[in-house]
Amino acid sequence: MSRGFQLAERFSGVTTSPVRDILAVVNRGDVISFAGGIPDGSLFALDDFRAAFDHVLSTQGRRALQYASTQGEPELLEQVAARMARQLPTTPDQVQVTSGSQEGIFLVGQALLDPGDVVLVEQPTYLAAVQAFSLAGARLVAVASDDHGMLPDALNAAIAAHRPRFVYLIPTFQNPTGRSMPAARRREVADVLLRTGVPLLEDDPYGELRFEGEAAAPLAALPGMGAQTVLLNSASKVMAPGVRIGWLRAEGPILRAVEVAKQAVGLQSAVTDQLAVARYLATCDLDAHIARVVDVYRERRDAMASGLASRLPAGAEVTRPEGGMFLWARLGGGADTAVTLPAAVDAGVAYVPGWPFFAAEPDRSTMRLSYVTNAPDVIERGLDRLAGALGW
Ligand SMILES: Cc1ncc(COP(=O)(O)O)c(C=O)c1O
Repeated sequence: MSRGFQLAERFSGVTTSPVRDILAVVNRGDVISFAGGIPDGSLFALDDFRAAFDHVLSTQGRRALQYASTQGEPELLEQVAARMARQLPTTPDQVQVTSGSQEGIFLVGQALLDPGDVVLVEQPTYLAAVQAFSLAGARLVAVASDDHGMLPDALNAAIAAHRPRFVYLIPTFQNPTGRSMPAARRREVADVLLRTGVPLLEDDPYGELRFEGEAAAPLAALPGMGAQTVLLNSASKVMAPGVRIGWLRAEGPILRAVEVAKQAVGLQSAVTDQLAVARYLATCDLDAHIARVVDVYRERRDAMASGLASRLPAGAEVTRPEGGMFLWARLGGGADTAVTLPAAVDAGVAYVPGWPFFAAEPDRSTMRLSYVTNAPDVIERGLDRLAGALGW
């Protein structure tokens, strides 16, 4: 018998990522990072959260420090159901609290996937979702997408070919591209899903960070889709990621399966954090907070979009998202953004190479750039360094 741990088969494809090793250095003070999807901490509603935690610990301290239900604290279930009900009818019993929407992604994978099952994803898509589904043994199949998201005909064909357990979409301000699916495309995609009966996992952590343009309703809100969709939301991008509070909305038996999976993973989300977020939602004006954050992020999006437009080499393309946190650039030609990353980091700027976001056939000339963490003048300096390092 061999000594040491033998990892489970599902970890066989998991290697340490060179990209992660390189990006580990971005906390160096001299590196301007466009890499992480990190909200600007100076914008956190720190005083409001301090008051909320104070209130929870001084009025319900023993409850806050105790074990509790897996589904979530009633106050939080009520608050988030009311917030979701702005978009589609939602009752507290249709909500499951999660430790961030990342846990929601993982739990849905556990609830629905057997080894070998197929999940259909956008091309490109959120890499930590790919990881969560892969750990459940799933095979990820990328469906052709354009500037408006997944293509309905390609989705239809992929469903016929692969009989997926579900489709995973980030329809608004997608990670990594920043693109959004317009209302008409949402209806077309929903039509395919309703006709074929394939469920949807709709991930919406960024939807409220809108700088301009018309909001489209989540696919879950389209007629018939509520029963066929798990809709994920999170406090991370609109309040603070450190509280690790997210929530999902679903209907029917999947809720119980998700609850059992969550019980197995960690029994419950932290009660202090749940009660503090519930208190914050009950007593503070989250919409006003989001409006303040959006004003700052819009300015940064503008700085990065125009700074890139004037620096990118001929033939390169870049998205101009109406909200969220990311721009997505495609350099084209023979560029490989993973190969050029060390030079960029040496020059004092970091980005995320695009290839890990592809479930298949990566376009290695792509990169994701986050504009939210740095002020416009820092963005300018970072882009100068990037242009110098990449020879633009
Ligand atoms: C598309 C998407 N889903 C989910 C998450 C996970 O966020 P959290 O677990 O903090 O809610 C992220 C974080 O970057 C994301 O981009």
